Amino acid sequence: MAEQATTTTGTEVEFRGVHKVFKQGRKEVTALQDVNTAIPAGSIVGIIGYSGAGKSTLVRQINGLDRPSSGEILLDGKDIVPLKESQMRKLRSNIGMIFQQFNLMTSRNVEGNIAYPLKLQGMGAAERKARVQELLEFVGLSDKGKAYPEQLSGGQKQRVGIARALATNPELLLADEATSALDPSTTHDVLELLRKVNRELGITIVVITHEMEVVRSIADRVVVMQGGEVVEEGTVYDVFSNPRTAVASNFVATSLRNTPDMVESEALQSKSGRLFTVTMAEGIGFFDAISKASHAGVTVNIVHGGITTLQQHSFGKLTMRMSASTPQAESAIEEFYQTMQANTEIEEIR
Ligand SMILES: Nc1ncnc2c1ncn2[C@@H]1O[C@H](COP(=O)(O)OP(=O)(O)OP(=O)(O)O)[C@@H](O)[C@H]1O
Ligand SMILES: [Mg+2]
Repeated sequence: MAEQATTTTGTEVEFRGVHKVFKQGRKEVTALQDVNTAIPAGSIVGIIGYSGAGKSTLVRQINGLDRPSSGEILLDGKDIVPLKESQMRKLRSNIGMIFQQFNLMTSRNVEGNIAYPLKLQGMGAAERKARVQELLEFVGLSDKGKAYPEQLSGGQKQRVGIARALATNPELLLADEATSALDPSTTHDVLELLRKVNRELGITIVVITHEMEVVRSIADRVVVMQGGEVVEEGTVYDVFSNPRTAVASNFVATSLRNTPDMVESEALQSKSGRLFTVTMAEGIGFFDAISKASHAGVTVNIVHGGITTLQQHSFGKLTMRMSASTPQAESAIEEFYQTMQANTEIEEIR
């Protein structure tokens, strides 16, 4: 797209002490609690949390669809909280949004849906047509311009949603569970497209999700929310390799599956020998320690695990069964355990 090929630097978003309380009659629901976090310009940030954590409420503050009870929300350094609705509307044209349910107009064809925000902006028909074609090409739907939403697959509908969101050349794109209604392979394609939006156009993207796999595939940073609070945040590598809260650990486990779950552990324990899960990293002397144990008569079997790469780092976990039939081998297992404990994390499954 010629117009966007120049690229933007993306919007930077910063939350400072943001609180949001919803009043329902006499009841008060605190949806956001002292949120302080920054979304760097040009990055892809994943916001993850269980249902009700406050994710949607948080992103709705960014485009002013909802206003905080207190706190500041800075877009490129400027607090938007004091803005009037008319000023907010202007700002909104710089923010694209895509949704789980696509929110397409069923009475308009694909071209009509994508052209809609341009029409609202007052763009002339000829220019609009050219822009729509450009957008269709960018999202890989050049042949679907005349189709109606009901004639499209979920993945195609979301591509239309993305094209429509990009129509007005936004610098920020908010995606609220944009892939939650899609199957894994279609999810992958849509995430690839979002990555292209970020890398080629420079647009900052905020991805709300409850799937850690989504975070793992496209995000640079992740913000973990629970009960309206940001409980953990960092680069995707940091949070995946060293989650500090239980909620982050649980999400990481769903994506990596490199530790046996309860059912798998039980099955593994039905055979004899000791089971250890070792966190793999460079320089922990894992292979030397295994080789030493093996020479002392220990039988070693790797029974579960997964090593992956993220942001240029390799990491993961391996679970092994170590069996001994002599006292010498038994003490070699203990020595292996001590060596690993000194160099990395090792956990015995009992
Ligand atoms: N308009 C509203 N009025 C009253 N309470 C609300 C409103 N919007 C959200 N809430 C409450 O705020 C809390 C956070 O809701 P929110 O929709 O932000 O969660 P979420 O993390 O997006 O969840 P989900 O994953 O289910 O979409 C919930 O307890 C919810 O019931
Ligand atoms: Mg939500």
